[in-house]
Amino acid sequence: MKIVAGGGSLGARILDIDLAQPLAEADHRAIEAALGRHGVVSFPKQALQAPHLKAFAGRFGTLEVNVANMYFEPGLPEVMILSNMVENGKPVGLSDAGQDWHTDMSYSRTIAFSNVLYGIRIPMRDGKSLGNTEFSNMHAAYDELPDALKTELDGMTITHDFNKFWEMMRREKGSTRPPLTEEQKRRKPPVSHPVFLTHPITGRKVLYANPGYSVRINELPEARSAEVLDFLFRHQLQEKYRYRHQWQEGDVLMWDNMGTIHNAVADYRPDEPRLIKRCQVMADRYFPDQY
Ligand code: OGA
Ligand code: MN
Repeated sequence: MKIVAGGGSLGARILDIDLAQPLAEADHRAIEAALGRHGVVSFPKQALQAPHLKAFAGRFGTLEVNVANMYFEPGLPEVMILSNMVENGKPVGLSDAGQDWHTDMSYSRTIAFSNVLYGIRIPMRDGKSLGNTEFSNMHAAYDELPDALKTELDGMTITHDFNKFWEMMRREKGSTRPPLTEEQKRRKPPVSHPVFLTHPITGRKVLYANPGYSVRINELPEARSAEVLDFLFRHQLQEKYRYRHQWQEGDVLMWDNMGTIHNAVADYRPDEPRLIKRCQVMADRYFPDQY
């Protein structure tokens, strides 16, 4: 296995490994270390079936089964399907996942460790891939916060709410998703996490806030919380922290959901098919008792 750093602060390619084969312990550990260090890693030219993807991702922790999700591999609810394709009048997958800046599962008591995506069909136009996935580096964003803010926010917590992203999609992106029912809201109540997490792989602090789900800094008065969140959202999205994965068919893309935030770029049309299979690894192995 060969790890080739991308040159920036995020992104590496991992070559000479076949993810359809069971993962050796040493490779597992090396991938975990690469994920901490580079935030986003890609494995080009993989040929996987859904059970391979599940077996690979499952080595890193418990896989999320999203009960609200209608699109998954038959018999394998851990393998979600993201797609804009329609077959026999039925959507093949979830068509608008992640289309603004967010962190997967920050709204959940057990947060996400890593999302593992396998790109099967990638839209192309004029020789360029569309539907890129963008990332921003939360180790760097933490490091460069003003000292006074690091001190002020130390030990504080943020409320994350699933409904924030949901309502933003309805309001701003023309999504046809219906409002969450009271029952769905009850099943996904807002949760709190530290503003600064100690990253379980790197041992360094990361800024654990994101525009998609973060709604309130609990220990600050309402107005100060709004002001600080607004600052954090702008700070964490500065161009210098960004990285963009340009997909190729056969890529497995794996990212660190604590050390990065991400955004799915919706720049392709309904007649430009995108098909991705996805396994979300929860951080239960790293935070068995929550922080
Ligand atoms: C996700 C997500 C990005 C993409 O699956 O959580 O944000 O590019 N996907 O599909
Ligand atoms: Mn996502």
